[in-house]
Amino acid sequence: MRVPVTLITGANGEIGHGLIEHLRKNGTAVVALDLKPIDESLRPYCHAHIAGDILDDFLMGRLVSEYEINAIYHLAALLSTRAEYTPETAHSVNVEGTLKLIKLAVEQARWHGHRVKFLFPSSIAAYGLPDVETKNKVGRVRETDWNFPTTMYGCNKLYCEHLGRYYTLHYRQLAAEQTTSGVDFRAIRFPGLISAVTMPTGGTSDYAPEMIHAAAQGKPYACFVAPEARIPFMAMPDGVKALVTLAAAPEERLTQRVYNVGAFSPTAAEIRERVLRAFPHADITFKPDKPRARIIDSWPADVDDTAARRDWGWQPDYDFARAFDEYLVPTISRYYAERK
Ligand code: SER
Repeated sequence: MRVPVTLITGANGEIGHGLIEHLRKNGTAVVALDLKPIDESLRPYCHAHIAGDILDDFLMGRLVSEYEINAIYHLAALLSTRAEYTPETAHSVNVEGTLKLIKLAVEQARWHGHRVKFLFPSSIAAYGLPDVETKNKVGRVRETDWNFPTTMYGCNKLYCEHLGRYYTLHYRQLAAEQTTSGVDFRAIRFPGLISAVTMPTGGTSDYAPEMIHAAAQGKPYACFVAPEARIPFMAMPDGVKALVTLAAAPEERLTQRVYNVGAFSPTAAEIRERVLRAFPHADITFKPDKPRARIIDSWPADVDDTAARRDWGWQPDYDFARAFDEYLVPTISRYYAERK
Protein backbone atom coordinates (compact mmCIF):
# COMPACT_ATOMS: atom_id res chain seq x y z
CA MET A 1 0.00 0.00 0.00
CA ARG A 2 1.18 3.49 -0.76
CA VAL A 3 1.49 6.02 2.06
CA PRO A 4 -0.92 9.00 1.83
CA VAL A 5 1.09 12.24 1.83
CA THR A 6 1.23 15.95 0.98
CA LEU A 7 3.95 16.75 -1.54
CA ILE A 8 5.91 19.99 -1.21
CA THR A 9 8.22 20.99 -4.06
CA GLY A 10 10.88 23.65 -3.56
CA ALA A 11 10.70 22.59 0.08
CA ASN A 12 14.05 24.13 1.01
CA GLY A 13 12.95 27.59 -0.05
CA GLU A 14 11.65 30.39 2.11
CA ILE A 15 7.98 29.43 2.08
CA GLY A 16 8.83 25.73 2.41
CA HIS A 17 10.54 26.26 5.77
CA GLY A 18 7.55 27.94 7.39
CA LEU A 19 5.03 25.67 5.71
CA ILE A 20 6.68 22.39 6.73
CA GLU A 21 6.89 23.52 10.33
CA HIS A 22 3.24 24.47 10.25
CA LEU A 23 2.02 21.24 8.63
CA ARG A 24 3.94 19.17 11.13
CA LYS A 25 1.80 20.68 13.88
CA ASN A 26 -1.40 19.25 12.42
CA GLY A 27 0.15 15.87 11.77
CA THR A 28 0.32 16.02 7.97
CA ALA A 29 2.74 13.50 6.45
CA VAL A 30 4.96 15.61 4.19
CA VAL A 31 7.18 14.45 1.36
CA ALA A 32 9.65 17.27 0.78
CA LEU A 33 11.27 17.61 -2.63
CA ASP A 34 14.00 20.06 -3.55
CA LEU A 35 16.94 20.32 -5.95
CA LYS A 36 19.25 20.47 -2.96
CA PRO A 37 19.23 18.04 -0.03
CA ILE A 38 16.61 19.13 2.49
CA ASP A 39 17.96 21.23 5.36
CA GLU A 40 18.87 19.21 8.42
CA SER A 41 16.53 21.35 10.51
CA LEU A 42 13.51 20.33 8.41
CA ARG A 43 14.19 16.61 8.15
CA PRO A 44 12.61 15.59 11.46
CA TYR A 45 9.33 17.18 10.30
CA CYS A 46 9.14 15.27 7.02
CA HIS A 47 7.82 11.80 6.37
CA ALA A 48 10.40 11.62 3.58
CA HIS A 49 12.75 14.04 1.85
CA ILE A 50 14.09 13.73 -1.64
CA ALA A 51 16.75 15.70 -3.50
CA GLY A 52 15.88 15.89 -7.18
CA ASP A 53 14.53 17.86 -10.10
CA ILE A 54 10.79 18.26 -10.73
CA LEU A 55 11.60 17.91 -14.45
CA ASP A 56 13.03 14.43 -13.88
CA ASP A 57 10.28 12.06 -15.06
CA PHE A 58 12.02 9.01 -13.63
CA LEU A 59 12.20 10.54 -10.18
CA MET A 60 8.58 11.67 -10.30
CA GLY A 61 7.52 8.18 -11.42
CA ARG A 62 9.27 6.61 -8.48
CA LEU A 63 7.65 9.07 -6.15
CA VAL A 64 4.20 8.06 -7.33
CA SER A 65 4.96 4.38 -6.97
CA GLU A 66 5.63 4.88 -3.28
CA TYR A 67 3.24 7.59 -2.19
CA GLU A 68 -0.42 8.39 -2.58
CA ILE A 69 -0.39 12.14 -3.08
CA ASN A 70 -3.46 13.89 -1.66
CA ALA A 71 -2.29 17.49 -1.86
CA ILE A 72 0.52 19.39 -3.53
CA TYR A 73 2.14 22.66 -2.52
CA HIS A 74 4.15 23.45 -5.62
CA LEU A 75 6.66 26.02 -4.41
CA ALA A 76 9.62 25.31 -6.71
CA ALA A 77 10.41 28.20 -9.07
CA LEU A 78 13.17 30.39 -10.43
CA LEU A 79 12.42 33.88 -9.07
CA SER A 80 12.14 37.09 -11.03
CA THR A 81 15.74 38.36 -11.08
CA ARG A 82 17.36 34.99 -11.63
CA ALA A 83 14.88 34.12 -14.38
CA GLU A 84 15.99 37.15 -16.44
CA TYR A 85 19.46 35.64 -16.81
CA THR A 86 18.12 32.33 -18.13
CA PRO A 87 14.60 32.98 -19.41
CA GLU A 88 14.25 29.67 -21.26
CA THR A 89 15.42 27.64 -18.27
CA ALA A 90 13.01 29.63 -16.12
CA HIS A 91 10.22 28.73 -18.51
CA SER A 92 11.11 25.04 -18.27
CA VAL A 93 11.17 25.03 -14.49
CA ASN A 94 8.32 27.44 -13.86
CA VAL A 95 5.87 26.36 -16.59
CA GLU A 96 6.80 22.85 -17.74
CA GLY A 97 7.54 21.86 -14.14
CA THR A 98 4.13 23.12 -13.04
CA LEU A 99 2.37 21.32 -15.89
CA LYS A 100 4.12 18.06 -14.93
CA LEU A 101 2.93 18.44 -11.36
CA ILE A 102 -0.62 19.24 -12.41
CA LYS A 103 -0.59 16.10 -14.58
CA LEU A 104 0.70 14.14 -11.62
CA ALA A 105 -2.23 15.48 -9.58
CA VAL A 106 -4.65 14.36 -12.32
CA GLU A 107 -3.20 10.82 -12.28
CA GLN A 108 -3.22 10.66 -8.50
CA ALA A 109 -6.87 11.70 -8.35
CA ARG A 110 -7.68 8.93 -10.84
CA TRP A 111 -5.94 6.38 -8.62
CA HIS A 112 -7.35 7.21 -5.27
CA GLY A 113 -10.64 8.71 -6.38
CA HIS A 114 -10.58 12.02 -4.49
CA ARG A 115 -9.66 15.48 -5.64
CA VAL A 116 -6.09 16.60 -5.21
CA LYS A 117 -5.65 20.09 -3.83
CA PHE A 118 -2.96 21.99 -5.70
CA LEU A 119 -1.68 25.09 -3.90
CA PHE A 120 0.33 27.47 -6.04
CA PRO A 121 2.20 30.57 -4.94
CA SER A 122 1.74 33.15 -7.66
CA SER A 123 3.05 36.66 -7.31
CA ILE A 124 2.59 40.41 -7.71
CA ALA A 125 5.03 39.83 -10.58
CA ALA A 126 1.95 38.71 -12.58
CA TYR A 127 1.12 42.43 -12.85
CA GLY A 128 2.84 44.88 -15.14
CA LEU A 129 2.26 48.62 -14.86
CA PRO A 130 3.68 50.60 -17.78
CA ASP A 131 5.26 53.42 -15.70
CA VAL A 132 5.46 54.91 -12.22
CA GLU A 133 2.86 57.60 -13.00
CA THR A 134 0.29 54.93 -13.85
CA LYS A 135 1.35 52.85 -10.84
CA ASN A 136 0.85 55.79 -8.48
CA LYS A 137 -2.45 56.69 -10.10
CA VAL A 138 -4.03 53.21 -9.94
CA GLY A 139 -2.91 52.30 -6.39
CA ARG A 140 -4.53 49.01 -5.30
CA VAL A 141 -5.01 46.60 -8.19
CA ARG A 142 -7.60 43.83 -8.53
CA GLU A 143 -6.66 40.35 -9.75
CA THR A 144 -7.94 40.99 -13.26
CA ASP A 145 -6.26 44.39 -13.71
CA TRP A 146 -2.95 45.11 -15.38
CA ASN A 147 -2.02 41.52 -16.24
CA PHE A 148 0.89 42.52 -18.49
CA PRO A 149 4.01 41.20 -16.71
CA THR A 150 7.38 42.42 -17.92
CA THR A 151 9.45 39.56 -16.47
CA MET A 152 9.74 35.95 -17.60
CA TYR A 153 8.88 34.89 -14.04
CA GLY A 154 5.74 37.05 -14.07
CA CYS A 155 4.67 35.65 -17.45
CA ASN A 156 5.27 32.11 -16.14
CA LYS A 157 3.22 32.69 -12.98
CA LEU A 158 0.34 34.29 -14.86
CA TYR A 159 0.21 31.46 -17.39
CA CYS A 160 0.35 28.79 -14.67
CA GLU A 161 -2.61 30.44 -12.94
CA HIS A 162 -4.53 29.94 -16.19
CA LEU A 163 -3.30 26.36 -16.48
CA GLY A 164 -4.57 25.60 -12.99
CA ARG A 165 -7.93 27.20 -13.70
CA TYR A 166 -8.17 25.26 -16.97
CA TYR A 167 -7.43 21.90 -15.35
CA THR A 168 -9.86 22.57 -12.52
CA LEU A 169 -12.78 23.88 -14.54
CA HIS A 170 -12.44 23.08 -18.24
CA TYR A 171 -10.19 20.05 -18.68
CA ARG A 172 -11.02 18.04 -21.83
CA GLN A 173 -14.23 19.93 -22.27
CA LEU A 174 -14.95 18.29 -25.65
CA ALA A 175 -14.57 14.68 -24.48
CA ALA A 176 -17.61 12.48 -25.08
CA GLU A 177 -17.67 11.50 -21.46
CA GLN A 178 -17.54 14.50 -19.16
CA THR A 179 -15.22 13.91 -16.24
CA THR A 180 -13.36 16.35 -14.05
CA SER A 181 -9.58 16.31 -13.91
CA GLY A 182 -9.67 15.76 -10.17
CA VAL A 183 -7.45 18.78 -9.58
CA ASP A 184 -8.56 21.52 -7.21
CA PHE A 185 -6.16 24.36 -8.02
CA ARG A 186 -5.87 27.39 -5.73
CA ALA A 187 -3.35 30.20 -6.12
CA ILE A 188 -2.25 33.18 -4.09
CA ARG A 189 -0.61 36.22 -5.61
CA PHE A 190 1.96 36.91 -2.93
CA PRO A 191 3.52 40.27 -2.21
CA GLY A 192 7.26 40.31 -1.45
CA LEU A 193 7.68 37.91 1.48
CA ILE A 194 10.03 38.70 4.36
CA SER A 195 11.30 35.89 6.55
CA ALA A 196 13.32 36.30 9.73
CA VAL A 197 15.10 32.98 9.36
CA THR A 198 15.86 32.55 5.66
CA MET A 199 17.23 34.80 2.95
CA PRO A 200 15.57 34.84 -0.46
CA THR A 201 17.65 34.07 -3.51
CA GLY A 202 17.10 35.48 -6.96
CA GLY A 203 14.06 37.66 -6.32
CA THR A 204 13.58 41.35 -7.03
CA SER A 205 11.70 42.15 -3.83
CA ASP A 206 14.82 40.93 -2.01
CA TYR A 207 15.94 44.46 -1.09
CA ALA A 208 13.64 44.48 1.96
CA PRO A 209 14.85 41.22 3.54
CA GLU A 210 18.44 41.99 2.50
CA MET A 211 18.30 45.37 4.24
CA ILE A 212 17.03 43.86 7.49
CA HIS A 213 19.35 40.85 7.53
CA ALA A 214 22.41 43.02 6.71
CA ALA A 215 21.55 45.41 9.55
CA ALA A 216 21.11 42.55 12.03
CA GLN A 217 24.57 41.27 11.09
CA GLY A 218 26.18 44.73 11.27
CA LYS A 219 26.93 44.70 7.54
CA PRO A 220 26.52 47.73 5.26
CA TYR A 221 23.80 47.51 2.60
CA ALA A 222 23.28 49.45 -0.64
CA CYS A 223 19.63 49.19 -1.67
CA PHE A 224 19.10 48.57 -5.40
CA VAL A 225 15.86 50.57 -5.69
CA ALA A 226 15.16 54.28 -5.03
CA PRO A 227 13.89 55.41 -1.60
CA GLU A 228 10.39 56.14 -2.99
CA ALA A 229 9.95 52.68 -4.59
CA ARG A 230 6.84 51.04 -3.19
CA ILE A 231 5.45 47.48 -3.44
CA PRO A 232 3.42 45.34 -1.03
CA PHE A 233 5.22 43.09 1.44
CA MET A 234 4.17 40.45 3.94
CA ALA A 235 5.75 38.73 6.95
CA MET A 236 6.38 35.03 6.29
CA PRO A 237 4.03 33.71 9.01
CA ASP A 238 1.19 35.47 7.20
CA GLY A 239 2.36 33.96 3.89
CA VAL A 240 2.10 30.48 5.38
CA LYS A 241 -1.21 31.36 7.01
CA ALA A 242 -2.61 32.51 3.64
CA LEU A 243 -1.64 29.24 1.95
CA VAL A 244 -3.04 26.94 4.61
CA THR A 245 -6.22 29.00 5.06
CA LEU A 246 -6.92 28.97 1.33
CA ALA A 247 -6.17 25.23 1.27
CA ALA A 248 -8.74 24.63 4.02
CA ALA A 249 -11.48 26.83 2.54
CA PRO A 250 -14.65 25.03 1.38
CA GLU A 251 -14.55 24.87 -2.40
CA GLU A 252 -18.09 26.19 -2.82
CA ARG A 253 -17.00 29.46 -1.19
CA LEU A 254 -14.35 30.14 -3.81
CA THR A 255 -15.55 32.53 -6.49
CA GLN A 256 -12.16 32.51 -8.20
CA ARG A 257 -9.02 30.39 -8.36
CA VAL A 258 -6.46 33.16 -7.89
CA TYR A 259 -6.42 35.58 -4.97
CA ASN A 260 -4.50 38.69 -4.00
CA VAL A 261 -3.50 38.94 -0.35
CA GLY A 262 -2.29 42.19 1.21
CA ALA A 263 -0.59 43.14 4.47
CA PHE A 264 1.46 46.37 4.25
CA SER A 265 2.97 48.44 1.51
CA PRO A 266 5.92 50.60 2.55
CA THR A 267 8.42 52.54 0.43
CA ALA A 268 12.06 51.44 0.55
CA ALA A 269 12.78 54.60 2.61
CA GLU A 270 10.11 53.59 5.16
CA ILE A 271 11.65 50.13 5.45
CA ARG A 272 15.06 51.74 6.02
CA GLU A 273 13.59 53.97 8.73
CA ARG A 274 12.07 50.98 10.54
CA VAL A 275 15.32 49.04 10.31
CA LEU A 276 17.23 52.00 11.72
CA ARG A 277 14.84 52.20 14.67
CA ALA A 278 15.73 48.61 15.57
CA PHE A 279 19.41 48.77 14.58
CA PRO A 280 20.46 52.43 15.00
CA HIS A 281 23.98 51.79 13.69
CA ALA A 282 22.84 50.18 10.45
CA ASP A 283 24.60 51.51 7.38
CA ILE A 284 21.92 51.55 4.64
CA THR A 285 22.37 53.60 1.48
CA PHE A 286 20.55 53.75 -1.85
CA LYS A 287 22.31 52.79 -5.04
CA PRO A 288 19.54 52.06 -7.54
CA ASP A 289 20.22 49.49 -10.20
CA LYS A 290 18.09 50.76 -13.08
CA PRO A 291 16.96 47.48 -14.66
CA ARG A 292 16.00 45.87 -11.34
CA ALA A 293 14.40 49.10 -10.12
CA ARG A 294 12.35 49.15 -13.32
CA ILE A 295 10.95 45.72 -12.49
CA ILE A 296 9.85 46.99 -9.06
CA ASP A 297 8.28 50.04 -10.73
CA SER A 298 6.22 47.70 -12.90
CA TRP A 299 4.72 45.94 -9.87
CA PRO A 300 1.70 47.49 -8.14
CA ALA A 301 2.01 49.83 -5.16
CA ASP A 302 -0.66 47.78 -3.39
CA VAL A 303 -3.20 45.03 -4.00
CA ASP A 304 -6.97 44.82 -3.56
CA ASP A 305 -7.62 41.64 -1.59
CA THR A 306 -11.38 42.06 -1.15
CA ALA A 307 -12.09 38.67 -2.76
CA ALA A 308 -9.80 36.77 -0.36
CA ARG A 309 -11.31 38.54 2.65
CA ARG A 310 -14.84 37.81 1.46
CA ASP A 311 -14.41 34.21 0.21
CA TRP A 312 -12.15 32.65 2.82
CA GLY A 313 -11.75 35.22 5.55
CA TRP A 314 -8.27 36.45 4.73
CA GLN A 315 -6.80 38.79 7.31
CA PRO A 316 -3.11 39.34 7.98
CA ASP A 317 -1.85 39.08 11.56
CA TYR A 318 1.07 41.42 10.93
CA ASP A 319 0.87 45.03 9.81
CA PHE A 320 4.09 46.96 9.15
CA ALA A 321 4.80 47.86 12.78
CA ARG A 322 3.90 44.45 14.20
CA ALA A 323 5.87 42.62 11.50
CA PHE A 324 8.99 44.47 12.64
CA ASP A 325 8.41 44.74 16.37
CA GLU A 326 7.00 41.29 17.09
CA TYR A 327 8.38 39.07 14.34
CA LEU A 328 11.32 40.33 12.29
CA VAL A 329 13.45 42.22 14.78
CA PRO A 330 13.28 39.79 17.73
CA THR A 331 13.57 36.66 15.59
CA ILE A 332 16.41 37.94 13.43
CA SER A 333 18.32 39.28 16.43
CA ARG A 334 18.03 35.92 18.17
CA TYR A 335 18.96 34.06 15.00
CA TYR A 336 22.23 35.90 14.48
CA ALA A 337 23.09 36.04 18.20
CA GLU A 338 22.89 32.23 18.31
CA ARG A 339 25.28 31.99 15.37
CA LYS A 340 27.97 34.31 16.75
N1 SER B 1 9.52 37.80 -4.41
C1 SER B 1 9.44 37.44 -5.79
C2 SER B 1 10.54 37.99 -6.58
O1 SER B 1 11.03 39.00 -6.21
C3 SER B 1 8.15 37.95 -6.37
O2 SER B 1 7.20 36.97 -6.26
O3 SER B 1 10.88 37.43 -7.58
